[in-house]
Amino acid sequence: MESPGYIHTFSDAEQERLIRQGAFLEPYIHPVIDLAPGSEVLEIGCGVGAQIRILLKRHPMIRLTGVDIAGVQLARARVFLDEEIKDGRAVLAEASGNALPFADRSFDAICMFWLLEHVRDPLPILREADRVLRPDGLIYCTEVFNAGFHVQPPAPALARYWRAFNDYQVALGGAPDIGAHLADLASATGLSVEWLCDAPVILDRRLTGQEARIGFVTYWKDLLLSAADGLLAQTRVDRTLIGDMVHALDSLVDEDDAVLYYAPRQLRARKRRESGTARVQDGLSHSATTSRGIS
Ligand SMILES: C[S@@+](CC[C@H](N)C(=O)[O-])C[C@H]1O[C@@H](n2cnc3c(N)ncnc32)[C@H](O)[C@@H]1O
Repeated sequence: MESPGYIHTFSDAEQERLIRQGAFLEPYIHPVIDLAPGSEVLEIGCGVGAQIRILLKRHPMIRLTGVDIAGVQLARARVFLDEEIKDGRAVLAEASGNALPFADRSFDAICMFWLLEHVRDPLPILREADRVLRPDGLIYCTEVFNAGFHVQPPAPALARYWRAFNDYQVALGGAPDIGAHLADLASATGLSVEWLCDAPVILDRRLTGQEARIGFVTYWKDLLLSAADGLLAQTRVDRTLIGDMVHALDSLVDEDDAVLYYAPRQLRARKRRESGTARVQDGLSHSATTSRGIS
């Protein structure tokens, strides 16, 4: 795969984590995504299909195409989305976001979730997205902004692990703060930015009930541990730090004053009516290959 190293790995356990992550974050990130009935929608970097399942549940009248650069992710997605694929509501294709196998202006909307943080250069992907989008079509991007991670009371082991996690992602060619740059990236692509918002995912006094608090902390443990093998292999962390980080997260469950604040960024941008023409004239257009409907 042409992507840089992937911090989360493609293990079975990680694939299951993506499905749990999709379900956990749905109430935080999906309410702002509005897709008109009848829309042809593309998800770039669909992974194992976690977001496709949610998008089709929330917008039952759309059709979704998912592409991912990693065949192993799509193999899991084909099993996970068996019903949606049989119903003809979901189609999957192996492709890089840098070279989408679709004709110009094929889609009404494009979604990306946790993709751009993993690529060396997001602009070619956004340009491809713009190319395959119909005029007036929408792009929704949901991305990390890891610099905004905040925990109270201070948890030094968690802070150290978080730093190691983010440094590792940068070393792999990723961008753990890409969320802060979404509007600039969309503007540089020629898209019209409609809004950029935070999607706060917060543990504080308002999150009541042991089960909900444990669920919150479990999400964070899963996410942080998804990089543990790579971090250990590079001696960026040791087992003691991992244990202390897990303990620090666990202790937030029963700590009344605890706060864990994290806010991913979400962008909505619209393709300008004239941008297709301008792009072709600029010579930036990739040649279209096939139309929608692979696999
Ligand atoms: C963190 S996962 C997110 C998957 C899915 N969007 C979700 O939210 O569950 C990122 C996915 O992006 C894929 N990916 C990375 N670089 C890519 C690229 N250049 N083109 C297409 N997919 C890519 C990876 O294979 C991985 O499945």
